[in-house]
Amino acid sequence: MKIGILQERAPGEHRVATTPVNVSRFVKLGLSILVESDAGRGAGFSDAAYEGAGASVVARADILSSADIILAVRPPAPGDLAGIRPGTKLIGGLSPYADPARLDAYAAIGVEAMALELLPRTTRAQSMDILSSQANLAGYHAVVRAATELNRCLPMMTTAAGSIPAAKAFVMGVGVAGLQAIATARRLGAIVSATDVRPEVREQIQSLGAKPIFEEIGEGDEVTKAAGGYAGEMSEAYRTRQAALVSSHITNQDIVVTTALIPGRPAPRLVSDAQIATMRPGSVIVDLASENGGNVEGVVAGDMVERHGVLIIGLTNGAARLAVDASNLFARNCYNFIEAYWNKADKALAMPADDMLVEAVTLTRGGQIVHSRFAQNQTA
Ligand code: NAI
Repeated sequence: MKIGILQERAPGEHRVATTPVNVSRFVKLGLSILVESDAGRGAGFSDAAYEGAGASVVARADILSSADIILAVRPPAPGDLAGIRPGTKLIGGLSPYADPARLDAYAAIGVEAMALELLPRTTRAQSMDILSSQANLAGYHAVVRAATELNRCLPMMTTAAGSIPAAKAFVMGVGVAGLQAIATARRLGAIVSATDVRPEVREQIQSLGAKPIFEEIGEGDEVTKAAGGYAGEMSEAYRTRQAALVSSHITNQDIVVTTALIPGRPAPRLVSDAQIATMRPGSVIVDLASENGGNVEGVVAGDMVERHGVLIIGLTNGAARLAVDASNLFARNCYNFIEAYWNKADKALAMPADDMLVEAVTLTRGGQIVHSRFAQNQTA
């Protein structure tokens, strides 16, 4: 069985779907790895490093015509898969909500597309969870980026020329990225506070040495019910109360990091232009949800804008800026997924369609969109 690794073609994407250390793991299982020449360059992995680990470095067309599985960090454009064999498994980060026409095209060319973003947040799937491994690095990067743009330092300092107070950082949305943002801001010496709609994260915030800023959730506040550990959509009334709480808190913050997402829906608006106007000039907001519409009014995905003297950074693909670590973790997630279904004795992959994880991630099979959440969007 052959696994193919194509060079990622999305602009600004430096990651690669497998790395030399993970090539060795696959080879030990008895799999052959084909890597497109230069696929690892953006992450600093040379063709020679892949070959040293046991991979064959070949042309893209050879991978498309012979691989049984293709691993991808980002969804390849269907046009970039010309020559792929029907039945090839395409496994990785496929952004299933982003572009319904792309899912139709995957079905039409006969690939079996498996989006690892759709893995349930269960103990069994934890080691395969690309959202967690990448969000953790994005949360770290958000704070480091904010710190480099901020016109003050984060830790308190006592010097012969006087004392410098610690900067204040506020994290909105305390999932995987938010927890790492809190931990990173704390390590850099900031005074950290955080908020979320899920009350259970209050203790996690405290355990990281940060202060929870919480609006209580009452009857009817959740418009769509939370499921699988994810947040639901909140009512107008709740959003008004939360906005009042944030307004009084945000004026004193030097750094705000927002990470709030609701799967399959636009990101909730957490910070308004009027609230930004109350912040000190020179403060920095990093919005990790900018690609999903943004948590912050006025944010521009992939760019920096200034509003009322406050810098708003629409940080996209933060993990790609840490391409070495991000690729290694992503590759290990993919390895763990495949290894879970690899029959060592027969040297064959057995992925039953009704297995809970396989069913959760499979978008297309046999020329159809088979995933219940996306089948109704089928345009053909
Ligand atoms: P996410 O990326 O979907 O959202 C980020 C955060 O934003 C979440 O904490 C969410 O509650 C929050 N949020 C949403 N709307 C908000 C609003 N209006 N105001 C403030 N905050 C808002 O979350 P992520 O990082 O994917 O984590 C989702 C869940 O999955 C969490 O419960 C996490 O602990 C859990 N998880 C479980 C794993 C496992 O057991 N295998 C692995 C990773 C995460």
